[in-house]
This record gives sequence, structure tokens and C-alpha cells, in this order.
Amino acid sequence: MTSESKLSEEILIDAARAAKKNSYSPYSNFPVGAAVLLEDGQIFKGTNIENASYGLTCCAERVALFSARTASASKVVALAISIGHEDANLPTDSLVPCGACRQVMSEFLDPDTLIYVDGNRMFTMDELLPHSFRLKV
Ligand code: THU
Repeated sequence: MTSESKLSEEILIDAARAAKKNSYSPYSNFPVGAAVLLEDGQIFKGTNIENASYGLTCCAERVALFSARTASASKVVALAISIGHEDANLPTDSLVPCGACRQVMSEFLDPDTLIYVDGNRMFTMDELLPHSFRLKV
């Protein structure tokens, strides 16, 4: 990994942690933060926003991606996620984006785009969701 990409990983993870602090997750008590880096250098954050009608909850990754796209059409070059309370000691199976978010991520991330997960894990988009659904019209 180059020192430049190491730097963007650290900055993005910090942004995801900062977003997580504003998580609205009174029902699950499971805060998640996400941060998206665009080619134009801008960073957009998202956190999970829950609702009393549970199914209306929106995950941190989607909030971050939709916020980024709303502000700029620049390409997504990396995404970072920070999952759970700091002292939670979650199993690694919990330290990954959900399936719905993977499909949404695959719409905006190239197959080789990196996803950094707080706690020193890293995936490519293709590792997280091979054979993602594409609409050919
Ligand atoms: N959550 C996310 O924000 N991202 C994911 O990829 C997995 C789950 C949120 C949704 C809900 O608020 C809480 O985590 C527990 O599922």
C-alpha cells in the first residue's frame, strides 16, 4: 500500500468514526458510521438512522453514498465503515456491510474499489459482492 493510500484510509476511517458518533440507533444500540471519498477529493459521511417502524431504517453506507451523490457526480474512489461501539469486541462476521448496502455500493464502486473497515480489515467491492445485479436495458 502506498503512503498516499494509507493516508486516505486513515482519514476516511476517522470520518466514519466521527459520523458514527451521531448515529441514531435507539432500537438496536448498534451505531455504524461510513465515509465516502470522491475523486474530486470531497468526503461525505453517513450514519445509520433508525425508525420506530423498523423497516424504514437506513444504513450508514447508503446515507453516505446518497449524500455524496446528491452533492457531487464525482466518482467514488474509496469507502470506509466503522461498526459498533468501540468496546464492543464484535465478531468479524458483524464487521461487514449488509447485503442491501453491498448492492447499492456496487452501483457506485468499481469492482476493485477498496472498502476499509475500522479494525484493520479491507475488501474490494468484488470480494463483498461478486455477480452484483446490473440492469441492462
Ligand atoms: N447497519 C448499518 O448501518 N450498516 C450495515 O451495513 C449493517 C447494519 C445498521 C442498521 C441498524 O440501524 C443497525 O445497524 C443494526 O442492524
